[in-house]
Amino acid sequence: MLKTGTVAAILAFCSVSAAAAASWGTATGGSSYETAIASDYHSTLSYAHSTEAAGASATVSAASAASTGAASTSTAAPATPTGLSKVQQILLSDTRVDAVNNVLTSDSDFVFDFQKARKFGPGKGGEIVLANRKAFPALTGTGISMAVGFLGPCGFNTPHTHNRATELLVVTKGKIVSEMVIENGVNDESGAPRDIINTIEELQATPYFMGALHTQFNPTCENVTFIAPLSDEDPGASVMLQNYLALQDETIAAAAGNHIDGADIDKFRGLVSTSVALGVEQCLKTCNITKRK
Ligand SMILES: *[C@@H]1O[C@H](CO)[C@@H](O)[C@H](O)[C@H]1NC(C)=O
Ligand SMILES: *[C@@H]1O[C@H](CO)[C@@H](O)[C@H](O)[C@H]1NC(C)=O
Repeated sequence: MLKTGTVAAILAFCSVSAAAAASWGTATGGSSYETAIASDYHSTLSYAHSTEAAGASATVSAASAASTGAASTSTAAPATPTGLSKVQQILLSDTRVDAVNNVLTSDSDFVFDFQKARKFGPGKGGEIVLANRKAFPALTGTGISMAVGFLGPCGFNTPHTHNRATELLVVTKGKIVSEMVIENGVNDESGAPRDIINTIEELQATPYFMGALHTQFNPTCENVTFIAPLSDEDPGASVMLQNYLALQDETIAAAAGNHIDGADIDKFRGLVSTSVALGVEQCLKTCNITKRK
């Protein structure tokens, strides 16, 4: 099992390397971040325009060209190519108006159901459901996304970073113990990397800076829910343990999931602070949950 010294090395290394781990393919543990973004959606839209629609579009184009003083070539917006994802179609649209009119044609395109997107995987301490632009194409071009976290009794979301986003987590049910290690040079009095630990109660919030290592633990015997907006429509997630171990020993990496039961704490001892590890132990006792060996 990894020792605290090793953990310090992992922390130092990961803060340096987080930006390089931008590939989705890096995560192999079936993380919910990955499964959430892989949510199915199909492009079933047709982009053939009726004559009136094309005419109306041309009028709008001319009007907006005139109002902005742009060169006045008042052609209708080209039909969006088919066979592309909604995100791709939106990115190829000349204007936001074209994107909405051609791609986001149903009112339901503007709704994402976090409850329906849950997977309820077996043996998990919880799950994180992510509405990024792939899962929720209406976000394309907005620069934001949102995660909703569900943590079971004593469950915790193992240490990870977001490659492209700052997160602002709000607890909406229960409470969590939050940890964040920001970057090299943010140290405590002893000169060691500073671990910012807080208990975040219902309707309290905490930010996680882009690239900062962070983790959440549910210290209660009840389910916890939190909501976490992210400052990029494609925030990315890099789970420290699994990505670090992938560098050296893929067999060990396979044992490390993103969300684990408190019952598995022995496997992860040393990878969270002593206070959280003890908190998990105490929580398991209080909640009468048996540790897995
Ligand atoms: C806690 O959440 C799980 C699903 O993750 C659910 O099966 C269970 O009923 C919930 N417990 C309570 C008390 O709400
Ligand atoms: C755990 O077990 C003890 C003793 O059996 C019991 O008093 C207590 O209520 C249980 N706690 C929970 C959360 O079920």
